[in-house]
Amino acid sequence: MEIQRDPLGFLTYLHQTYGDVCVHRLGPFDYYLVAHPDGIKRILQDNHPNYSKRLIDMQTVGYVSGPGILIADGADWMRRRRLMQPAFHRDKIQQMMLTMVALTNAWIQELPVGQRLKANSSITLLTLRIATNTLFSLDLDQGASEVMECFSKLNELLIRRFRAGKLFRPIPLFSDDRVFLRTLRRFDEIIDGIIAGRRARPDGSFDLLSMLMLARDEEDGGFLSDIELRSEIKTLLLAGFETTSNALGWSVFELGRRPELAETLAREAEESLGAGEFSHETLTRIPQLKSFFEEILRVYPPAWYTARRAEAADTLCGFEIPAGARVVVSPYLLHRHPEFWAEPNEFDATRFLGSHRLGAHRFSYFPFGGGPRQCIGNQFAMAESLIILANLLRTYRISLPRTTPPEVRPLITLRMQEDIEMVLEPRERP
Ligand code: HEM
Repeated sequence: MEIQRDPLGFLTYLHQTYGDVCVHRLGPFDYYLVAHPDGIKRILQDNHPNYSKRLIDMQTVGYVSGPGILIADGADWMRRRRLMQPAFHRDKIQQMMLTMVALTNAWIQELPVGQRLKANSSITLLTLRIATNTLFSLDLDQGASEVMECFSKLNELLIRRFRAGKLFRPIPLFSDDRVFLRTLRRFDEIIDGIIAGRRARPDGSFDLLSMLMLARDEEDGGFLSDIELRSEIKTLLLAGFETTSNALGWSVFELGRRPELAETLAREAEESLGAGEFSHETLTRIPQLKSFFEEILRVYPPAWYTARRAEAADTLCGFEIPAGARVVVSPYLLHRHPEFWAEPNEFDATRFLGSHRLGAHRFSYFPFGGGPRQCIGNQFAMAESLIILANLLRTYRISLPRTTPPEVRPLITLRMQEDIEMVLEPRERP
């Protein structure tokens, strides 16, 4: 009940009371909480093949995504990763930045000025547009709104299942399960339609769908089948969109209640960026904004925990872990570990600037995971977030009618309990 009520408080209590490795029982299973970077390095990197994703909560995500890269294991995962990795190459992200900039600028023009508006919902609209455009080159008038509506509904239904602890396979006996299955079927039809349309009329689009369709495995010469493509598209939407939206929602909150910091970051963006241009090189010209966003990912890591199953017995930080044990690692905990962070509970936007950077151990900071299964979209997410924040800041002053911190709601990702309101005032441009 404690885990259901306050998962972050419970994990923090376990860590503070029992130390860096401890075990607790949940139902029939023992869960090993590992909160030392050495242990995390072993799980995610040094001995990663021993730690699979054969877990019930992964299967629950799999009801929506199908057997995609996020939940696959072993040779199947490796093949999917080999096929998908090139689509996330630096050069490809560079191209996608053009779309991100264009859509961000259009969104900025549409935002109502001087009125209260829901920050998260508004940002979500933009991140979904960026997702549908970079994935399938769909604009709003070409059916993107149907994809966005159906996916948002599915995502909410999945989150509701997690919240209710309904991790089992949906059964059509229950009415909310029937809604879930119906929405999922509709979403599959939409994605299948997009794939079939692209197969019938290849249009030379430069998007993730085209790259995944053309990807050829250098080891076996094979391609992703249409069923596999469907799973991977859904996986990319699930893994990529809510994580980024939530981090941006927290960013708006922290900027809204720190006007001086917002001014500094706005000035940096204005002085360093040209007229809408953005590239990997640009990121190096806005170090203060980058450091601010890295701090957001430290304090509010969207993927606040991940889990694995130990396939064979192992030793982590001197503790025996039996075969079959569930192992939990939490960026939220590690990012506050007092041994690795000075003043871990303070929000310090300069923490990641140059030599100020603290948290010396690679695995004391891992908002994007680590090892071979590190987030495939990390560069995508960083570029998208910095483009949105830089352009928002240089165009508007953000204020918040209410500056009390919203309650943190750890579901699949680290959400706010309620959407926050913001008011935007235009900045005078020099
Ligand atoms: C701020 C935004 C994001 C955060 C914090 C984040 C975080 C993570 C983390 C922690 C993992 C590893 C999970 C584990 O080890 O169990 C992961 C995996 C993954 N992420 Fe992200 N992610 C973000 C954005 C994205 C985006 C934009 C995409 C795609 C466009 C994406 C696609 C994926 C995929 C496909 C995986 C699975 C990789 C594999 O297992 O090989 N993520 N992400």
